[in-house]
Amino acid sequence: MTEKTILRALKGEVLPRPPIWMMRQAGRYLPEYRATRAQAGDFLSLCYTPELAAEVTLQPIRRFGFDAAILFADILLLPQALGAELWFTTGEGPRLSTTVTMHDVEALKPVAAIHETLAPVYSTLRILTEELPPETTLIGFAGAPWTVATYMIAGRGTPDQAPAHALKAQDRETFQALIDRITEGTIEYLSAQVYAGAEVVKLFDSWAGSLTGQDFQDFAVAPAARIIAELKARHPGLPVIAFPREAGQGYVGFAKATGADCVALDNSVTPEWAAGQVQVDGCVQGNLAPGHMVTGGQALIDETRRVVSAFSGGPHIFNLGHGITPDADPENVALMIRTVREG
Ligand code: CP3
Repeated sequence: MTEKTILRALKGEVLPRPPIWMMRQAGRYLPEYRATRAQAGDFLSLCYTPELAAEVTLQPIRRFGFDAAILFADILLLPQALGAELWFTTGEGPRLSTTVTMHDVEALKPVAAIHETLAPVYSTLRILTEELPPETTLIGFAGAPWTVATYMIAGRGTPDQAPAHALKAQDRETFQALIDRITEGTIEYLSAQVYAGAEVVKLFDSWAGSLTGQDFQDFAVAPAARIIAELKARHPGLPVIAFPREAGQGYVGFAKATGADCVALDNSVTPEWAAGQVQVDGCVQGNLAPGHMVTGGQALIDETRRVVSAFSGGPHIFNLGHGITPDADPENVALMIRTVREG
């Protein structure tokens, strides 16, 4: 059998058409997702019930035939496994108990204890290795330490990550201890995902864009570099995708500085700029604006062709620049895939 297209792109191969998957491809824009989520009762029960989490992971593969499936879980399961309380209130997003003092960090569970909570996630991956079509790549993931820390410090999502920036400024020792604990937990979590069947792992640093100057080096680049080096030591040849969202100029050289095999791009950069500045170092992923999944039409077709064409000279995995939103139309997803595959 020829190698899976996503794995070929991650090795640097330039394919005639880019392989495609989509951030948040299992989600509320799909009626079948909403039905399974209702069956689970709530979002966290869905994440921790392997048969149902595997089912929603498979739904977009059945419907659209994406080239990759991403594990259905959440970046906030790791803080929960480290001992933070986590709950989701409908319409308000995630809530966590806060971790803001050295005492709070020391009260977290040891990294080796995370598997007690996360075992169902590994079961989901094992089910998927059996049930996915042979051509579909299975992607595992975790949040990057800075992004996870912003939620643990604030106890919720924040528009500007102010509480995390304040702790970084006021109590560097506690902040660094928290980053280190998350970094070590992420290594164990992703390594266990690989043992359970993930063929690629992706690090989501959704709030990397709010780190500037030396902070970007210390808290976006350095933790990613440490995680990737350790994962590659344990799992030689494991491909890693890094997503330092809204990093802007920070995208330049990010793959080399962290050891990532692919850098995922958001919509704050144009594909033409990124082809010249980022793709020169290897595979890139992205970066159609998710709004086209709501609005569709000729603009969707034109922008999809533009992204494909801008990145056609190098290794590329087609994706959105961020997750698809609940108000998206599944017909537009099908149109995007047809345009990528047929031109
Ligand atoms: O991409 C996928 O299909 C895989 C599953 C996945 C989810 N979350 C499922 C989810 C992945 C990879 C994530 C990552 C994630 N989670 C990130 C990083 C990527 C990003 O979007 O920037 C972040 C910051 C989170 C934290 C999180 N989880 C938030 C802020 C929210 C609420 C926002 C929302 O859309 O409601 C979630 C909930 C969540 N995670 C949902 C899904 C499908 C929606 C929950 C529902 O069904 O009600």
